[in-house]
Amino acid sequence: MGAVSSTFIAGVELFKKGLGLPIGSLTQLQRIRLGKRYESRNPLIKDFVPLANLGDLVFGGWDLFPDNMYEAAMKAGVLEAHQLAPVRRELEAIKPMPAVADTAYLKNLKPVHFKKGRTKFDLAQQVVADIEEFRKRTGVDRVVMLWCGSTEILPDRAPVHESIEAFEEGLKRNDPMIPPSMIYAYAAISRGLAYGNGAPNLSADVPALVELAERTGAPICGKDFKTGQTLMKTTVAPMLKARMLALTGWYSTNILGNRDGEVLDDPGSFRTKEKSKMSVLDTILNPELYPDLYGHYHHKVRIDYYPPRGDAKEGWDNIDIRGWMNMPMQIKINFLCRDSILAAPIALDLALFLDLAKRAGLSGIQEWLSFYFKSPQCREDLKPEHDLFIQHLKLKNTLRLLMGEEVLDHSGLDYYDPERGAAVAAPAPKPHTRKKKAVAAR
Ligand SMILES: NC(=O)c1ccc[n+]([C@@H]2O[C@H](COP(=O)([O-])OP(=O)(O)OC[C@H]3O[C@@H](n4cnc5c(N)ncnc54)[C@H](O)[C@@H]3O)[C@@H](O)[C@H]2O)c1
Repeated sequence: MGAVSSTFIAGVELFKKGLGLPIGSLTQLQRIRLGKRYESRNPLIKDFVPLANLGDLVFGGWDLFPDNMYEAAMKAGVLEAHQLAPVRRELEAIKPMPAVADTAYLKNLKPVHFKKGRTKFDLAQQVVADIEEFRKRTGVDRVVMLWCGSTEILPDRAPVHESIEAFEEGLKRNDPMIPPSMIYAYAAISRGLAYGNGAPNLSADVPALVELAERTGAPICGKDFKTGQTLMKTTVAPMLKARMLALTGWYSTNILGNRDGEVLDDPGSFRTKEKSKMSVLDTILNPELYPDLYGHYHHKVRIDYYPPRGDAKEGWDNIDIRGWMNMPMQIKINFLCRDSILAAPIALDLALFLDLAKRAGLSGIQEWLSFYFKSPQCREDLKPEHDLFIQHLKLKNTLRLLMGEEVLDHSGLDYYDPERGAAVAAPAPKPHTRKKKAVAAR
C-alpha cells in the first residue's frame, strides 16, 4: 500500500465517479485493429475482449505500516489532496492487513505492522486466510494478487527454489533464502490465483513457483513495472538496432525522493534494481550477432535518493552512438516523469489481463504481458523480449488469438498480390549476379 498502489486505486475510484480519464491504460483507451486495413474494424480493447468492469473492482492490501490507503496516498504525495478528496471515504476504508516481514530483505524500513508465525509456511497460510476473508467480506468472484511492495534484496538462486517439494520443505523449516514476496506469491499461486510482480525481486520467477502455477492453473507474470527510463531505453534501443547505428556508451542516471528511492538507497535493494535495468540493452542489441556495432559499449545506471523531488523522478540519458564511417553522435534524453503516474495504468492493465488469462485457461508464465515489465519473466531457456514494439505486437496478437481473430504479421504483401496471403512465405530473393553488380558500378 505505497505510492503505486495508492495512485492506482485512487485513480480507479475517481474513474468510478466519472472524475478522471485512465490515461496510459491500454485496456481502457487503446483500440485494436482487426482484419484487413480497409475493413476499418478498430474496437476498443475493452469491447473486444471480455474484461472486468472498473466499477466491479474491489481492493485490499497488506503493508508493514498501519496507514490506510488514504493516508498512504497522502504520504506518497503523488496525487494532490484536492484530487483525493472526492474518494477519501473509499480510500480510508482500505486498511492494510498485517504484512509478512523480514528485515533481512529490506534494510531501510522498520516494520511495525506484521504477522507472527512459527514458520514461513504458517505465514503463507495466514496470507491465504486473509484472501479468503477478503473474498467473503467483499463478495468478489475472482481475485488477482499484484506485488506493489518495496524492492527486496535479491536472494541468490538456491536449491530451495528449484522444485515445489523443496520450496514447501523450505517454508516449513524457515529457509532464509525465501523472502516475503515469495511467501505472498506462494499463497496466491497455491490457490490458483493470478499473480503479477511489479518489483524486480525474484518473487514468482523461480522454477518451484512456475511449476506450482502450471499445476494449479495460476497465470503469473513479472518483473518490475516498465515506467520511466527503461521505457525510454526499450524505445530508443530498438530504433538504433533497426537502423544499424552503433552504440559506444549509454549513461543513465535518476534522482527520486519517494519511499521507493529511500529503499533503493540501500546497496542490496539497488543491486536488484540495477540488474533489472541493465539487462535490457544486451537483449535488444544482440552484441553476439553484431560485435562491430554493439560488442563493446559502456552501460552505466545510477539511482540517487534525493528527497526534495518526491515521486517526480528525473532521469537523464546520455547516449553515445556512431554512424556512417564511425562518426560519433550523441542523443540526450531528460525525462521529467512521475513514476507512479506511469505505473498506475500498468497495475490496472495487469490486474484486468491476468484475470482474463485465468478465465481463458492460461496458466504459468504469461509472456504476452512482457510489454509492462523491465525484466519480463519467460521460460528459463529463452531470452526475454525487451523491444517495446515487439512486446506490443505480442500482446495484441495474443488478444486476437484468444478471440479467434486473424493474427497480424503486418507484411502487407497480400494487399498487392492476393495469391500471397499473409501466411504464405515470400520466396527468397534471387542472389545478386556479377553482371548486375557490374552494371550498378558503371
Ligand atoms: N513507482 C514506479 O513507477 C515503479 C516503477 C517500477 C517498479 N516499481 C516498483 O514497485 C514497487 C512499489 O513502488 P512504490 O513506488 O509504490 O514504493 P513505495 O515504497 O511507495 O511502496 C511500497 C510499499 O510496500 C510496503 N512493503 C514493503 N515490504 C512489504 C511486505 N513484505 N509486505 C507488505 N508491504 C510491504 C512498504 O511499506 C511500502 O508501503 C517497488 O518495488 C518499486 O521498485 C515502482
